[in-house]
Amino acid sequence: VTSATPEPATADVGVLGGTGKLGSALALRWAASGLTVTVGSRDPQRGVDRAAQLSAELPSGSGAILGGSYADAADAPVVVAAIPTEGAGDLVGPISGRLAGRVLVSTLAPLEFDADGPTPGHLEVGSAAALLAAAAPGARVVGGFHTVSAVGLGDVDAPLDEDVLLCGDDDDALAATAALVDDHLPGARAVVVGPLRLAAALEGLTAVLIATNKRHRAHAGLRVTGL
Ligand SMILES: NC(=O)c1ccc[n+]([C@@H]2O[C@H](COP(=O)([O-])OP(=O)(O)OC[C@H]3O[C@@H](n4cnc5c(N)ncnc54)[C@H](OP(=O)(O)O)[C@@H]3O)[C@@H](O)[C@H]2O)c1
Repeated sequence: VTSATPEPATADVGVLGGTGKLGSALALRWAASGLTVTVGSRDPQRGVDRAAQLSAELPSGSGAILGGSYADAADAPVVVAAIPTEGAGDLVGPISGRLAGRVLVSTLAPLEFDADGPTPGHLEVGSAAALLAAAAPGARVVGGFHTVSAVGLGDVDAPLDEDVLLCGDDDDALAATAALVDDHLPGARAVVVGPLRLAAALEGLTAVLIATNKRHRAHAGLRVTGL
């Protein structure tokens, strides 16, 4: 890992695709809340460069943003995948050894688009989270963040007003992911909905949110009531 700031090299969170819209926004928020985050890219230098750019946006008193490869990002105890669903298995497969035992959070949402907008995509394995679980068999996979807009996340000064729905089969992995929401995304609340087999339903909500945003020209989020 090449550090963009003179901070310790052990990250709290790694983000595969941390150079992208969602990955960068999550890295920024989490670092602003005091965590050290590694931005992982297919091109390690791009990861380093993006980390330097994001670091420049951090308020004083923040944690750190480091940059590097996918393998560097996979050194963190919690690794968030924020990459396109297409080809995700091929990207994660080569680092599956490093991901063994780690929490692997899938934000992936397979979508299909036509003239009427997005609909949930259908994968043979059932969900994008299942795709990652198959590519990294030892990882403890959690599905989540599908309904969170990168635009809202990127505005680090504004508290979020939404829930972050999570699913998974490993209680410790769910708790670690929920802590990243409840303790490190001001205004947001983690809601564990149930087992990983619900991932496709959560992934489908991305289509609902994108369509809602288009219709209402908004960056909408979800709240679950009655809990
Ligand atoms: N944007 C949102 O608001 C949002 C919300 C909820 C969920 N998601 C999910 O998050 C994932 C990422 O979405 P995003 O909007 O952040 O996408 P994005 O801006 O295109 O970023 C994706 C990142 O993935 C990496 N990547 C790996 N393979 C790629 C490929 N074949 N083509 C393009 N990029 C590739 C790229 O990083 P390198 O080039 O550095 O490797 C890129 O920066 C998707 O699965 C999406 O469904 C997004």
